[in-house]
Amino acid sequence: MTAWLHYAPAKGWMNDPNGLVHWQGRHHLFYQYNPDGTEFSNQHWGHASSPDLLTWTEHEVALFPGPAGTAPYDATACFSGCAVEHDGAVSILYTGVLGDAQLPCLARAADDGLSGFVKDAANPLLPAPPAADITEFRDHSVWREGGRWRMLVAGARREHGGSAFALSSTDLRRWDYDGVFADRAATKVPGAVWECPDYFTSADTAALLVSVIHEDGMTGPDVWWMTGTASDNGFHVRECGVVDVGDRFYAPQSYWAPDGRRIQFGWVRTHEDPAGLDGPAVGFMSLPRELSVRDGRLYSEPAAELSSLRRTAMPVPPTGTVRFERARVAGELVLDAVTANGVRRVTLWSPGGAETIVDLSEFAGRDGVLRLFWDAGIVEVYRGGVAGTWSDLRVGEVAELRLDGAAGSAVGRAEVWELARKEREFGPAAATA
Ligand code: FRU
Repeated sequence: MTAWLHYAPAKGWMNDPNGLVHWQGRHHLFYQYNPDGTEFSNQHWGHASSPDLLTWTEHEVALFPGPAGTAPYDATACFSGCAVEHDGAVSILYTGVLGDAQLPCLARAADDGLSGFVKDAANPLLPAPPAADITEFRDHSVWREGGRWRMLVAGARREHGGSAFALSSTDLRRWDYDGVFADRAATKVPGAVWECPDYFTSADTAALLVSVIHEDGMTGPDVWWMTGTASDNGFHVRECGVVDVGDRFYAPQSYWAPDGRRIQFGWVRTHEDPAGLDGPAVGFMSLPRELSVRDGRLYSEPAAELSSLRRTAMPVPPTGTVRFERARVAGELVLDAVTANGVRRVTLWSPGGAETIVDLSEFAGRDGVLRLFWDAGIVEVYRGGVAGTWSDLRVGEVAELRLDGAAGSAVGRAEVWELARKEREFGPAAATA
C-alpha cells in the first residue's frame, strides 16, 4: 500500500533518517537505505527532497559504501549521520563501517542539489574510538558553538552502557575528544547502547534525544529526550522523558527550517508488523513533526503543513461510529480536550474486516486537542506535546472507525477529516531555489 503522507522509497529497505537539512529552498531527507533488497543490510544513503515537507521527490542514491580500493573504511556500509553547512556547502558526518569497525567519516556535497557526496581524504577521521572502554561508537550530531564544531557520537562504555561522547574540531576533519557528554548513570534514560544522538538548543535550554537498545530481556520506550545545560564538561541533565509512547518510532533526527522551527523525522519500523515485509519497499518515515522546548520539557507536535491537507470534515456522531462510503487510505481524527479525556481507544477497520485498536490511555489527562492521523496502516497520535506511533499494515484503508469511551462519556466535538493525497515523484536532485 502506498502511503499518502508518510515518505517511503519505491523499493528497497529504509531505516533511520540522515543528513536532514534545508538547502536552497528544499528540505533534504537522506536515509539508511538498502537499494538491493528489503532487509537491513548494505546501508547506502537514499535521498528525497521536498519544497513543503509534504510533496516528495525520490532521487538517486546519494552515498555509496566503498569502493574497497579508494574508500575501504566504509566498504561494508555507510551508517547514520548528520549534515552541516560549512564554507557555503553542505557537508555530512557519517559512520563508515568496515567489518566490525565503525568510525566517523566526512564528505562534502558534490552540488547544490546534494545529489552525491565527495568523501574526504582524511577518512576515517579517528583511527579508533577515543577511549579504551568504548564498546559502541556511531551516529553523529554536529553543531557550531563558540567558533568551533562540536560533535556527539552515541554508543556505549563497558560497565556503563548507553553513552554519548563529545568531540570538537575547527575544520570538521581533526577531532579532539572532550569526554563523556551524557550517560545512563547521570540520567534516567535507560539502555545498554544509545544510538542516533540529536542535539539542539532552544532559547537557553539544551536538548538531546537518543534512541536506546535495551539491556537483554528489558523493554520500554525506545526514544528519549533530555534537557538541561551543556558546557565544555558535559551535559547537566535536569529533566528527561519519552519522545513517543508507541512501539514503532525510532532513530529520529531534527533540523532547523528557515522559519526557525525545529523539524523532526523518525523511522517507522513497519517491518515489525505481521504484513510489514510484503511489497517492494520496507520502512516509512514518520510525519514531519515540530519540536519545541517549553519549561524544560520537549514537545512534539505535527508540523503545521499537515493542516493544509484537510479537505472535508465529518462530525463523529454520538454513537462514536463513523462509516465511510469509500474506504480512506489517509485521514485525521480530531478530538477536543473534553472528548479526548473520555475516549480510551479508537478502533479502525479495513474494508476486509481487519481491525487495529489504538490505545489512547497514555494521552488521557494531557492538555488540548488530540489528533490521530492514519495513513496506509500507520497511526500517529499527538496530544499535549507527546506523540505515539503504531502500525498495522493490514489496515491499509479505513472503512469504519469507532471511539470507545469511559462508560457514559459523551462525544463532544469530534470530527474526521478527509486528507488530500500528494503524489510521489522520482527525479534528479537539482537545485531548484
Ligand atoms: C539505528 C542504527 C544506527 C546505525 C544505523 C544502521 O537504527 O542502528 O545506530 O547507524 O541504524 O543502519
